[in-house]
Amino acid sequence: EKGGYEHFMLKEIHEQPKAITDTFRGRMLAEDNIIKMSSIELNLDKFLNANRIIIVACGTSWHAGLVGEYLFEDMARIPVEVEYASEFRYRNPIITNKDIVIAISQSGETADTLAAIKLAKSKGAFVYGICNVVGSSIARETHAGAYTHAGPEIGVASTKAFTTQITVLTLIALKLGKANGSLADHTFKNYLKKMQLIPKQVEELLNIDEHVKQISAVYKDAKNCLYLGRGFNFPVALEGALKLKEISYIHAEGYPAAEMKHGPIALIDENMPIFVIATNRGHYEKVVSNIQEIKSRAGKIIAVVTEGDTTVKEIADHVIEIPDTEEALTPLLTTIPFQLLSYHIAVMLNKNVDQPRNLAKSVTVE
Ligand code: F6R
Repeated sequence: EKGGYEHFMLKEIHEQPKAITDTFRGRMLAEDNIIKMSSIELNLDKFLNANRIIIVACGTSWHAGLVGEYLFEDMARIPVEVEYASEFRYRNPIITNKDIVIAISQSGETADTLAAIKLAKSKGAFVYGICNVVGSSIARETHAGAYTHAGPEIGVASTKAFTTQITVLTLIALKLGKANGSLADHTFKNYLKKMQLIPKQVEELLNIDEHVKQISAVYKDAKNCLYLGRGFNFPVALEGALKLKEISYIHAEGYPAAEMKHGPIALIDENMPIFVIATNRGHYEKVVSNIQEIKSRAGKIIAVVTEGDTTVKEIADHVIEIPDTEEALTPLLTTIPFQLLSYHIAVMLNKNVDQPRNLAKSVTVE
């Protein structure tokens, strides 16, 4: 059942090239230069005339939602807000029939997300679901939606569900960007070309497992860790920290890199590992200067960089290379080393990787 892997989590990490390919199937037709998603096509008017999109979710799915915010605003120029479903449902939110609510949930059973959907519907919003479990409550309760097709996720720590949620969000953002003219034809085409490479790139990236294992051995006894990223990779930093907390029980926090100097920098000393996403486009120079600030305070830097990087390599204690892609697509790659890192640290610490203490796979009570 674990397909030769020691844990479901490791199996599911390795399933990502296939899971992302399955998410593409029938939707991304790169040769024809189109994205086909009937759930969007049938409701295109609603999407194109919406005042804004509100994304509601919990946990890892909320992190995917944050990536979605960057994607939708960048590619389709549609204003997006992302909210924890638990906050949204209780704060008397302003919602109208010009709003679209997108609910993201792997299980499709999360109580707070389900309640947020019901509230949004009662206020007249159009509600779109992104779920993994077919026929789940959320899939049934939403007006329309798209399945991620990640396949069953057994490990409590979400891995392939996250990357396939981001995949669906990217497809929708591209489709809407093309439909409303925010994306030039050649830009759209280039994105499809780069998207198509992602499953292979993830596969290639999974070969760094041994390298990540060595890094894990160095930092497994840390008491606290920081994860930093900017732009599209800020949510990846949050997700990296959550993954580590969940299965290794090491305290970790994710931050936008520039927030460091507004407080967390006080934590830095020679015992603090700091995982930084420093891919080559986006805000590279800014992240490099954030890394220098950390280094001058003796923090340990483990940087995720684009292959061929030389600048960060000179400053960081360890680097993990990812294949080159468009900045907007990097979350699909930068996430992978952090999944592996959490996995290895948890195994080294003898923790129950697939069923961490106090956690359940689907949170059906609020
Ligand atoms: C983290 C994790 C949880 C879930 C959250 C939402 O690894 O698994 O944070 O992401 O409980 O669950 P779904 O996506 O099923 O609504």
